[in-house]
Amino acid sequence: MRSDLSFAGLREIETELLAVLAADTQTAKGPEAKPAPVLLTDDEAVKAAAAAVLGSGEFKAGTNETLLLHAPAGLKAKRLLVVGLGKLATASGQAKAVHSVRNAAGTAVRFLKPRGIKELILALPVAEGLEAAACAKAVAEGALVGDFDADTYRSERKDQSVQRFTLVAPGTADRKALEAAFAQGALVGESQNFARGLVNEPGNKLTPTVLGRRAAEMAREVGLAWEVHSTEKLHELKMGAFWAVSQGSEEPPALIVLKYEPEDVKDGPVLGLVGKGITFDTGGISIKPADNMEKMKYDMAGGAAMLGAMRAVALLKPKVRVLAIVCAAENMPDGKAQKPGDVQTAMPTAPDKRGKTIEIINTDAEGRLVLADGLSYARQLGATHLIDAATLTGAIGVALGQVNAGAFANDDETFAKFEAALKVSGEKFWRMPLGEEYAEQIKSDIGDIKNTGGRYGGACTAAEFLHAFAEDVPWIHLDIAGTAWIDETRPYIAKGPSGIGVRSIVEWVRSY
Ligand code: BES
Ligand code: MN
Ligand code: ZN
Repeated sequence: MRSDLSFAGLREIETELLAVLAADTQTAKGPEAKPAPVLLTDDEAVKAAAAAVLGSGEFKAGTNETLLLHAPAGLKAKRLLVVGLGKLATASGQAKAVHSVRNAAGTAVRFLKPRGIKELILALPVAEGLEAAACAKAVAEGALVGDFDADTYRSERKDQSVQRFTLVAPGTADRKALEAAFAQGALVGESQNFARGLVNEPGNKLTPTVLGRRAAEMAREVGLAWEVHSTEKLHELKMGAFWAVSQGSEEPPALIVLKYEPEDVKDGPVLGLVGKGITFDTGGISIKPADNMEKMKYDMAGGAAMLGAMRAVALLKPKVRVLAIVCAAENMPDGKAQKPGDVQTAMPTAPDKRGKTIEIINTDAEGRLVLADGLSYARQLGATHLIDAATLTGAIGVALGQVNAGAFANDDETFAKFEAALKVSGEKFWRMPLGEEYAEQIKSDIGDIKNTGGRYGGACTAAEFLHAFAEDVPWIHLDIAGTAWIDETRPYIAKGPSGIGVRSIVEWVRSY
């Protein structure tokens, strides 16, 4: 999808479809209350074209509700699409309102796709308390995210892309600022889709080696420094935990390292992004049941989120050094696979230390093994702050559903910056607890730590496992197992890979 920004007058635009947003301004409650949909535009001709239907009460401007008018009177556009935002909660800070605008842009794109309409012009919403630049960025993100569909291997793809998307912002005073915000939104949305494309790939097409190649191609395109290593390097770095997972597969592992080092930044923080890149998780010898196992191709969504975030970082060029490590492997049962009861030695967390010994209780708790070594390696490469993303536990889905992803942190200041990033990204993460008691649950009788902590608090014991490797380095852990794959299509996003995490990680990086 091509995206552009224009400042033309709405009524003059000749197009297949012009979309405008509407909010429900009704404040009264009770049986007397009637929905009061209001178009968020200053253009009198557009308002007049929609006046009759808005007055009819048939369209309530509910969240992502749509209404289509053909041959709207007084406009040059062939169709007028109205997309509802629900009640515009600008009073409680504009973050929520901006996010509803983001979703409405996605809804508009997804309205067009099955109808074969290839061109969308969307009017920037104008309302009190709604910041134009924030909206322009959100609209670009929402439109691009809405355009993605997962049916890449269908011979006849059902929903073809919208080819041309234009945001129109008549009457803009600061065009430069709006252009910049719109361009940023577009590249963030593209980066989220880049991650989704990777997550969507089946395990036979996207092996660890292929993931490494895709990461390298992307890095070359956007100008990131990159290295992709395999088995030998894992041994050299004494990554016994990462190798323990990899050893059960014919497919070699990939240790993917990307670096963003702006020339003029020589000191300050180094942000270390670490992603779980299990390209397929059978569970290993502790094999998973057949039901839904095919979904385990998305077990590299954390790694993909980090690659997507790095792509955006490379293009946005914030003044901070960032490195990303994706630990890619396939978790398979095999003659060489690790077994429950095995003891593995992780990479040392510091040069003067010995690697922690890990008792393997369940080979299906493999994500924390690869991440343990990934976190240590990020520290060795100089990361002062760590963030990891992983489809780590089914337990996080039990706790938070498919609505919120889980976030854990050993440092309130670092987490505060992440929370601020969530306001900008519109993504939903809920902070979950770490604690000594959870760490207790994963003490091993034979070694330092075991890789599962029993039935209760599974997401928290998994997080404590990672904490043992992040130690005192400020660190955030994102468990996206419940949210990285969407089971039902929503008005603004297709079912399939969600790309969760990309936008928040990017905004978190930009806050340094
Ligand atoms: N990749 C899974 C977690 C997962 C579950 C991701 C559902 C997406 C959807 C992870 O490797 C895993 O198998 N975790 C186990 C841990 C258990 C053995 C302690 C789990 O959650 O059951
Ligand atoms: Mn597993
Ligand atoms: Zn897994």
